[in-house]
Amino acid sequence: MFMRRVAIVGVGMTEFGEHWELGFRELIAQAGVRAIEDAKLQGVKIDALYGGTMAAGRLIGQEHITALIADYMGLNPIPATRVEAACASGGAALRTGYLAVASGMHDVVVVGGAEKMTDVPAGDAAVALGGAGDQEWELFMGATFPALYALIARRHMHEYGTTREMMASVAVKNHANAAKNPYAHFRKEISIEDVLGAKMISEPLTMFDCSPISDGAAAVVLMPLEKAKEHTDMPVEILASMQASDTLALHSRKSLTEMRATKVAAKRAFEMAKVAPGDIDVCEVHDCFTIAEILAIEDIGFFEKGKGGKASLDGETALNSKISINTSGGLKGCGHPVGATGVKQAVEVTWQLRGEAQNNRQVKGAEIGMTHNVGGSGATCVTHIMKRGD
Ligand SMILES: CC(C)(COP(=O)(O)OP(=O)(O)OC[C@H]1O[C@@H](n2cnc3c(N)ncnc32)[C@H](O)[C@@H]1OP(=O)(O)O)[C@@H](O)C(=O)NCCC(=O)NCCS
Repeated sequence: MFMRRVAIVGVGMTEFGEHWELGFRELIAQAGVRAIEDAKLQGVKIDALYGGTMAAGRLIGQEHITALIADYMGLNPIPATRVEAACASGGAALRTGYLAVASGMHDVVVVGGAEKMTDVPAGDAAVALGGAGDQEWELFMGATFPALYALIARRHMHEYGTTREMMASVAVKNHANAAKNPYAHFRKEISIEDVLGAKMISEPLTMFDCSPISDGAAAVVLMPLEKAKEHTDMPVEILASMQASDTLALHSRKSLTEMRATKVAAKRAFEMAKVAPGDIDVCEVHDCFTIAEILAIEDIGFFEKGKGGKASLDGETALNSKISINTSGGLKGCGHPVGATGVKQAVEVTWQLRGEAQNNRQVKGAEIGMTHNVGGSGATCVTHIMKRGD
């Protein structure tokens, strides 16, 4: 099968957080314009737009999002397609854009991800998010996402001796990274005691074990690698793009302590990129809850199953340690406007591979990076492996 090599030539994002002053279209336009300027696209025709958003219909009452954005940004009549895969909508949009360029169908593609979540009360946002799980057997019975991940956490504690302090250390590390990220929702450091003493959301997860409800958008520009050099001295090549699926409902799974979709998508991505977990310098993983980061670093293969909690507590995932995980602050510290997250992960890894991560959060000598974006409680996983272009 012939596939063209694909590069990221421009990236941009809005600050994540509460944006009362900006509507959905302004958010995505801000991120898109930043990415287009970064890619030096002046005078170049954009061929297609792919946009990831999970719940714009529920959260702001607006469907047909990508047509709206193409119109607002003056891009008509290019094809503009919405991609939805719950919290992995952004990663799935990136993968769709990657396939469009790799196949030779399009040359210049803009991929965006956005969500505007704070316009509704937190309870309504929780119900909208709950639609990413099994509506009939989970949400209807009261199992919101914090509750589902609390079940996963309890089981991981039972099987592997993972402690609340180990989970808390993930939040402490991600808030420390977010404090260095000018685009992050939360820019303040917290301690293990802060996490353990915060209000209980779903036992054993406190508020600081949870990602927040955020607004925000992110965008990247893709091109064939051979054309990328005309736009940037430092293209970032996408070496692999993989996706896998699993059951929606937790009760249908053989194990609560691993995500099969992550294992499959990561393994196939490593095969496609011809690299191993040990080759990855920087990785943005889907830490919608602290326990989710522990599962991710185990299932991707950075640490043995059951050892992710201890590795986190021992500092092995901190900036410039064994493997730098979530240098952006992750979903926990940078924020989680769900449709934007998968694209934001690619923005952060691109900055890292270009040596441009702001405020001393640069991973020294980063050459190969990875993103890991999960939908629901693991029913979808999208992974990308990227390398600084030569
Ligand atoms: C944890 C959660 C329930 C807290 O919501 P809440 O109780 O309504 O909290 P509030 O909005 O009243 O915020 C209270 C304060 O805590 C802060 N805060 C809220 N959520 C936070 C979080 N997750 N981490 C850190 N601080 C948080 C707010 O900024 C606010 O600070 P302020 O008083 O300085 O302004 C909510 O963030 C949540 O539902 N998170 C999970 C989202 C989710 O499920 N995503 C999908 C994953 S698959």
